[in-house]
Amino acid sequence: MLSVSDLKLTNFRCYEDIKMSFSPGINILIGKNGTGKTTIIEALGFLFVGKSFKKTKESDCLSNEKEYFCIVGDCLNDEKSQKIVFYYDDGGKKISINEKKVQKMSAFVSQKAFVCFSPDDLYIIKGSPLERRRFLDVSISQIDSEYIDFLNRYNKIIKQRNEYLKSLDESALNFDFLDVLDFELLSCGKQIIKKRQKFVTHLCKYINIAMDNLSNKNDSLELVYSPKVKEEDFEKEFIKRRKHDIFLQTTTLGPHRDDLIFVINNKNATDCASQGQIRCAVLALIISYYRLLKEINKPLIVAMDDVLSELDEERKNKVFSVIEDGDQVFITCTDLSNISNEIVAKSNVINIRKD
Ligand SMILES: Nc1ncnc2c1ncn2[C@@H]1O[C@H](COP(=O)(O)OP(=O)(O)OP(=O)(O)O)[C@@H](O)[C@H]1O
Ligand SMILES: [Mg+2]
Repeated sequence: MLSVSDLKLTNFRCYEDIKMSFSPGINILIGKNGTGKTTIIEALGFLFVGKSFKKTKESDCLSNEKEYFCIVGDCLNDEKSQKIVFYYDDGGKKISINEKKVQKMSAFVSQKAFVCFSPDDLYIIKGSPLERRRFLDVSISQIDSEYIDFLNRYNKIIKQRNEYLKSLDESALNFDFLDVLDFELLSCGKQIIKKRQKFVTHLCKYINIAMDNLSNKNDSLELVYSPKVKEEDFEKEFIKRRKHDIFLQTTTLGPHRDDLIFVINNKNATDCASQGQIRCAVLALIISYYRLLKEINKPLIVAMDDVLSELDEERKNKVFSVIEDGDQVFITCTDLSNISNEIVAKSNVINIRKD
C-alpha cells in the first residue's frame, strides 16, 4: 500500500512555501476556483510519475521569477517510510528517495503508479493520435520499466534519422550509417509495438464491463490498438519504404505513428460519439487501467481532479464503488455538495484558500 502523509511545496506555481498533511484514505481538497487544488494533484504526479499529468513543462511550474522549485513528500510504501524529493532548476530535474539520487527514471516510474481522473482526459478520445500515444506511453511506463528505455532509445533514433535524411541530398547518402540506425530503430520499435499490443489486450479484459456498468448497458465500448505497421511486418515494410523516406526526408513508418481507436456502438468515437459518451468511455478507460494495476498489485495513489461535478449521482457512486478501501484517494472540488455525506464523513477534508 502506498500513501503520502506530508507534502511540502517550495516555489511550485502558486505555492511559494506550504506544508500540508494527508490521511491514508480519502482526502478531499475543497476550495474556490484558482485557489491551487489542481496544483497539489500535479505536485503529487511529479512525486510519483516524475512529471506533470498536465502537458506542461517543468519551467512553467516555477512560481513567478523563482529559479527552482521543490516538492517533498513523506510517503509510506508497504509500511516502509520513503522521503521522495523532486527538485527542478535550469540544470534540469533531480529526484531522490531517502536522500539517494534516482539514477534510472524508468525504474523509479515503474515502482508505483498514479491514476488520475481529470477533465483533460477527454482529449484522449477527442484529440489527435498523439494524445492516445501519450496515454499508452504514460500508462505502460508505470508497469513496465523496460518500456521507457525502449521508447527513449526509439525517439532518439527517429530524431537522428530524420535529421540525417534532411541534411543530405540523395547522392551523398551513406547507406551503412542508415543501416546502423535502422537496425536499432527496428529492434526498439518492435518491442514498443509488442508491449503496446499486450497492454491494450490486458485493458480490454475490463473495458467492456466498465462501459456496460457506467452506461447501464446503453453503449458498448471496444478498444483497438491500431499500429501503423504490425510487428511481424515492420522490418519488411520498413525496408520497402526506405526510398520513400529518403524522398520525403522523414521516417514514415513505425510506432511513432500508431493510434488507439475507441469504438462506441461500432463507430469510431473520435468522429461520432457525443460528449456524454466520450466522458463515459474515458471514465471506463481509467477504471480499467485502475483494475489492471490492482490485478498486478501495483502500489498506487488515485486522484480525481474536478471530475465529480460533471457526473450524475449514479455514476459518482459507481466510480466510488470501484476504488478499494485502503487506497489513498485525492479528490478536488469547489463544493462539498458534489460528494455524498457518507463519503464526506469518512474523509479528511482540507480547505484550500488563497492567502
Ligand atoms: N507558474 C505559476 N506561478 C504562480 N502562479 C501560478 C503559476 N501557474 C499557475 N498559477 C496560479 O495558480 C493558481 C492555482 O491554480 P490551480 O489550477 O491549482 O487552481 P484550482 O484550485 O485547481 O482551480 P479550479 O477550481 O479552477 O480548477 C491559479 O491562480 C494560477 O493562475
Ligand atoms: Mg483545478
